[in-house]
Amino acid sequence: MAAKILRQAGAYYGQSLSRRAVLTVPSSDWKKLTKLPTFTNTDCVVLDLEDGVAESAKQIARENISRYLPESASTLNREICVRINSVSSKYINDDVQLLKDLSTTIDCLFVPKVDSIDEVKWLADQLGVNRQYNLVVYCESARSLADLRSILTSASNLFSLQGAVFGSDDFSADVGVNGRYSLEASELTYARQKIVTICRLFENTQPIDMVYINFKDLDGLKKQSEQGAAWGFTGKQVIHPQQVPIVQTAFSPSSSSIKWAKELIDAYEKHEKEEGKGAFTFRGNTMVDKPLLRKARHILNMTR
Ligand code: COA
Ligand code: MG
Repeated sequence: MAAKILRQAGAYYGQSLSRRAVLTVPSSDWKKLTKLPTFTNTDCVVLDLEDGVAESAKQIARENISRYLPESASTLNREICVRINSVSSKYINDDVQLLKDLSTTIDCLFVPKVDSIDEVKWLADQLGVNRQYNLVVYCESARSLADLRSILTSASNLFSLQGAVFGSDDFSADVGVNGRYSLEASELTYARQKIVTICRLFENTQPIDMVYINFKDLDGLKKQSEQGAAWGFTGKQVIHPQQVPIVQTAFSPSSSSIKWAKELIDAYEKHEKEEGKGAFTFRGNTMVDKPLLRKARHILNMTR
């Protein structure tokens, strides 16, 4: 199968974006699972088997997923995904078995700590070709970041690749960020921007930003979410329901930007058709040409 690498620069502006707030729920906690229908404004929930679940509760977490999915998948009315343990962990065989045994399909498979293309190939081989999984991978180490392009190439050949999440806390530990990274996370700028850039080489592959673990600090969350959105991320991992509305808003276009986009597209079409112009002045002082047209279309795509 041919790699789905895009050749045309800026082509990502055509994609629609479904995951803004990506809410992780420890699958071992049945009470938290039953609360999910009340969080109506998140696009996507991820039932976790990995680091949100204690070692002693892995099996309970798998059993909860088997029970929860058939009961809730059709009524929850948003994406329900599963995060398995990493391929290099001792839990992976039991997690793969769970996926094979599930009677319900999951919307997307989230795979943490993907460090090499061998891990991607191993997983594809284990899951078999009969079920084509949507896939989101986590980049959480120096090795993963260095090899991200080849990892995503392999993932896009073997799965329906849909995104990469920046696993900031594991990454910080791996590269030796001294102690806890700062509130502004300036130590992680290179990694975040590299992930956005690499994701843009692939079709329909969302860059999903780091978690904000100080979940009671909603101002800090808002700031970091707006920064991530400005840098090109299209969603963010969240761990607490209070974080959801802030992240959803930060990754959704504002009403003024929607208005700007609609007016710009109308003006572009008018100038192109009636005057044969590809560049013109918009709202008195901005030069408009193709890149801004793509940006405007991107904004409208994000409202779908
Ligand atoms: N999913 C679903 N429900 C959640 C939730 C989540 N991620 N986080 C909190 N809730 C629920 C709580 O159960 C609580 O419900 P209640 O009012 O019926 O008791 C309510 O939302 C308010 O939660 P709160 O009491 O403020 O927090 P908590 O002490 O119960 O939980 C955390 C705090 C951080 C432990 C919890 O948010 C959590 O487990 N988050 C996910 C962690 C995770 O997945 N980590 C790995 C990925 S980085
Ligand atoms: Mg992690």
